[in-house]
Amino acid sequence: MKISRRGFVKLVIGGTSAAVLVAAAWLLGTRPGRETLLSLTEQPVASKSVTLTVNGARETLDVKANATLLEALREDLDLRGAKPGCLNGECGACTVLLDGLPVYSCQRLAVELSGHSVTTIEGLSGGASLTPLQQAFQDEGAFQCGFCTPGFIVTATALLESTPRPSELQVRQALSGNLCRCGSYAHVVKAVLAAAEAT
Ligand code: FES
Ligand code: FES
Repeated sequence: MKISRRGFVKLVIGGTSAAVLVAAAWLLGTRPGRETLLSLTEQPVASKSVTLTVNGARETLDVKANATLLEALREDLDLRGAKPGCLNGECGACTVLLDGLPVYSCQRLAVELSGHSVTTIEGLSGGASLTPLQQAFQDEGAFQCGFCTPGFIVTATALLESTPRPSELQVRQALSGNLCRCGSYAHVVKAVLAAAEAT
C-alpha cells in the first residue's frame, strides 16, 4: 500500500496522530520525506476558552490546547513573576499557587484549569506593600540574581499557611523543589524562619 504525500498530510489534518501515521508509513514501506515531517509540526493547534481566577480576578482566556499555565500567565496576562527556568518540572522558578497549593506552572496545561484559582507572586501582597515573608527575603538578602526568588516565596508562602511555625528541617523539605543557581539557600531558610517568627 502506498500513501502519497498529499494523502498522508490529509490524514494528519483529519486528526490522526502524527506519531501513529509515521509509524504506519514506515511499516508499510512508505518513507515520509523531511519536508512532509516538518509540515506536521506546522499544523495549527486548536484554542479553547478557559475561565479561571487569577490573583482574585476572574479571567477568561483563549488559550492553545498545548499552552502551559506559565505561558498563559506570562503571555496572556502579562504576569511575569513566575519564571521560565528549566520548563521541565525541576527548578521551581515557575511556581504558583493553584487552589492554595504550590505547583510548577510549566507542568500544567492552562486548558485544564477552568474554575480553578491561581495566585502568582504578584498577587501575594495584594498591592504595593510587601508581605512579611517578602520583607524577610529583602531584610535577609535571600537572593542574588533574583531569578528563583518568586518561586521560593510562593512555595514558602504555602508552607507558612499550613505550618505557621516550621522547623528548619520543615523549611528545607518544603523548599526542596526550588533550585537556586546562585546558592542563596542558607539566606532563604533564614528569611522563612524570620518571617515565621515575626508573624
Ligand atoms: S520552569 Fe517550571 S520547574 Fe523549572
Ligand atoms: S538568586 Fe540567582 S538563581 Fe537564586
